Amino acid sequence: MPAHAPVFPNLERVLIDQAAIAARVGQLGRQIASDLQQELGRDADAALVASQIVLIPILTGSIVFVADLIRQIPMMMSLRVVAVSSYPGTSMVSKGAKIRGELPADLAGRHVLIVDDILDTGRTLGLVRSMIAEQRPASLRVCVLLRKALPRPGQDWEPEYVGFDIPDEFVVGYGLDFDGYYRNYPEIATLIPGMGGTQGR
Ligand code: IMP
Ligand code: MG
Repeated sequence: MPAHAPVFPNLERVLIDQAAIAARVGQLGRQIASDLQQELGRDADAALVASQIVLIPILTGSIVFVADLIRQIPMMMSLRVVAVSSYPGTSMVSKGAKIRGELPADLAGRHVLIVDDILDTGRTLGLVRSMIAEQRPASLRVCVLLRKALPRPGQDWEPEYVGFDIPDEFVVGYGLDFDGYYRNYPEIATLIPGMGGTQGR
């Protein structure tokens, strides 16, 4: 039975529980820190490290994940959030992506890590990634908590860091929403079909 079932209606089953999320986020943080440290050189001084590392969380789905992830990366860094809207699909089927507001413009020569909740069609991350790549950062990587098992024809890249590979089902919790709700549900769960559940994606 999903935790808090009476409070969060229409949950079907838990795919990933809180303990599994926490353990994996810890592993991802250690891996990312070690890769960045290697790239910067073990002896890089603190001021250099601080100015070089930029995390770019994509709003709104990544907020819970990124809050936990950054506390598992013990390095100086800055955060620059980017908002992306999906349009003009329904709440469950993304038809495209558009950046809202400005992208950070000073990423040349920096080590950039884009963080998002989920790789679904890949449109959102594909767009942000290609626009950031144009600025010629020193390194550019992508970290997602979840990657759905589905074909992404034409996508010529994969995230460097993936928390969990999941089936092609609609999921909520730990930042992921259905119609704006469930983001604060603490684990990853599916919804009952017909209640925002799987059919039609
Ligand atoms: P894209 O299709 O890869 O561009 O994903 C677009 C956005 O849709 C993601 O960043 C999520 O915010 C949202 N999304 C995709 N799949 C799901 C899901 O299963 N549950 C909740 N949100 C999702
Ligand atoms: Mg999102």
